[in-house]
Amino acid sequence: MSDPYSDLGAQDTALQERIAAAMEARCLEPAQVAIRKAYLSELKLPSNARALELGSGTGHVTKDLLDVAGAKTAHGLEPSPVMVERAKKSFGDDARLSFDIGDAKDTGFEDTSFDVVLMHTLLCHVPDPEVVVQEAFRILKPGGVLAICDGDYDTATAQIADFDPLDQLIRFMINQNVTNLWIMRQVSGMLAKTGFQLGARRGHGYVAEAEATYFLTVIDRGADRMIEERVLFPETAEALKAEARRRVAEKTFFGFMSYVSQIATKP
Ligand SMILES: C[S@@+](CC[C@H](N)C(=O)[O-])C[C@H]1O[C@@H](n2cnc3c(N)ncnc32)[C@H](O)[C@@H]1O
Repeated sequence: MSDPYSDLGAQDTALQERIAAAMEARCLEPAQVAIRKAYLSELKLPSNARALELGSGTGHVTKDLLDVAGAKTAHGLEPSPVMVERAKKSFGDDARLSFDIGDAKDTGFEDTSFDVVLMHTLLCHVPDPEVVVQEAFRILKPGGVLAICDGDYDTATAQIADFDPLDQLIRFMINQNVTNLWIMRQVSGMLAKTGFQLGARRGHGYVAEAEATYFLTVIDRGADRMIEERVLFPETAEALKAEARRRVAEKTFFGFMSYVSQIATKP
């Protein structure tokens, strides 16, 4: 099975729901909120800015475009109907926010429509990321800002000692759920080639805190995927899930991944 995020709308509803719940848990973690704030609060937008998030998931990051970046309106485009439904349920009362089903490769928007386009952990799931970057260039106004943030996936780990078996679940989950592990090491070249002027590039360390809610979803999904792929028997996978929870309870759990943000401007 290839990266399910790359064609989430085509997955069965139960998987879309599971991924939506994991994304929501990630969005709400204070350490993740801090990462988004660190790069979105630095965007310098006009007072009436029109914003777009591509790959908007459950809509929390789209809302940051208003609350953190200061846009006047923000639209989220997302292929998964389950995600779009969740976003509308959470934020449908806010007239400044809207969400639709759509594809970042072919948004259907007119040229020069937006002041800012955001891709938060989208590009790593897209098989042809340069097509999405070109589409963003087309729909941005001159002077418009593109903000990209994604994991630097090779840094993901739950390892606390040599040969820690829990780490294998993280690596397997990433291997099976990310299309391009190296996107943030490649994207600057892609942006320059498309015609963007490069702005700030920053690294953001994410360390799982307290109950490690999001990291446990990664552990569980890695373990379940290992069962599906017949790498582990179910009993072994359950034992590893229990190991993770016991570490959380005993304050010995460690989960880390680096994120990288890149800002660019359309001349
Ligand atoms: C890891 S989630 C991130 C969601 C949200 N940005 C967040 O950070 O919570 C990636 C999202 O990108 C969406 N996606 C994948 N391919 C896409 C495409 N071609 N166009 C638009 N969205 C896409 C997936 O459906 C998924 O909801």
